[in-house]
Amino acid sequence: MAASLSTDILLPDATPLLQLPKHIEFLAKYGTSKEDYEFCMTEFLRMSGMYWGLTALDLMGKLDSVPKEEVIEFVQDCFDEVSGGFSPAKEHDPHILYTLSAIQILATYDELKAIDTTKVVGFVQSLQQTDGSFFGDKWGEVDIRFTFCAVATLALLKQLDAVNTRKATDFVLSCQNFDGGFGSKPGSESHAGLIYCAVGALSILKEVDRIDGDLLGWWLCERQLKSGGFNGRPEKLPDVCYSWWVLASLSILGRAHWIDKKALIKFILSCQDVSTGGFADRPGDIVDPFHTLFGLGALSIMGYDGDKAINLKKINPVFCMSQDVIDRLGIDVQLP
Ligand code: FPP
Ligand code: ZN
Repeated sequence: MAASLSTDILLPDATPLLQLPKHIEFLAKYGTSKEDYEFCMTEFLRMSGMYWGLTALDLMGKLDSVPKEEVIEFVQDCFDEVSGGFSPAKEHDPHILYTLSAIQILATYDELKAIDTTKVVGFVQSLQQTDGSFFGDKWGEVDIRFTFCAVATLALLKQLDAVNTRKATDFVLSCQNFDGGFGSKPGSESHAGLIYCAVGALSILKEVDRIDGDLLGWWLCERQLKSGGFNGRPEKLPDVCYSWWVLASLSILGRAHWIDKKALIKFILSCQDVSTGGFADRPGDIVDPFHTLFGLGALSIMGYDGDKAINLKKINPVFCMSQDVIDRLGIDVQLP
């Protein structure tokens, strides 16, 4: 366990219990006051914001606390019939990041029929390059995140064969570094969020065996600090979302038991705001739906069940969606 004092935090003395009813309240209310400053400032990522909040509610069995028809209408309004992609909000441009979020939302609601999925497949296909990588949109940025989004979107639509999966795998492997980690593109620094994208994509492509799980597992375990939380890179502060990026990756690699689970649970629980509900990146910071999903997601991977009245559903470590949705769709990925 890494122990750099300058890049870790001290936890509060008392650890709160898991406050599921409060988190449900926080997420169900989020965005109901459209004038809210934070809500307005996050319009550029609204579709993903909805995926984070809805998936967290689904994990707590409370998807019905938001009006489904309004959500489906929003998703349909963000569909660009010309390109086949989804934008984060009306009047914005389509991008693979928001296309995956839209498909995740529709899949969770069992409403993939609400849009023309053939066009979505065409959009994803149009983004693949000759080296196997994917652009995020028509402007041509390449990033391993876009590879994950592309293959995850196609897998949810059961159309993985629509792209060159062999070349997609080769591109992912070309982003691996000497330390076992993965960066955004060949030669870029290893980063836990991008490792999740690499390992998740390889799981969908059923090519996890092409990497050295011990070397990568060790790099991931070293992200756990004395506080119990994980950072995303050496010398960075711990952050609740890295509980997800790191633990989901370890789980796909069959090495989730390599970490100090009790310490991680304590760190995650300490990041709750017990009065407003929701999780923040670190104890005492402002809560948001992003960290709320990833805090709950990591607790779900660890099988944490701190509340007798509401149980957390099992989460799929590759898609970051309730396992029951993945089972209903009959999607098969490579897991230990
Ligand atoms: C940290 O970002 C996280 C990443 C780079 C991974 C992002 C993954 C996706 C977009 C794929 C879709 C994800 C899911 C769960 C379906 P950051 O910008 O916060 O990094 P920083 O902590 O270094 O600032
Ligand atoms: Zn974070």
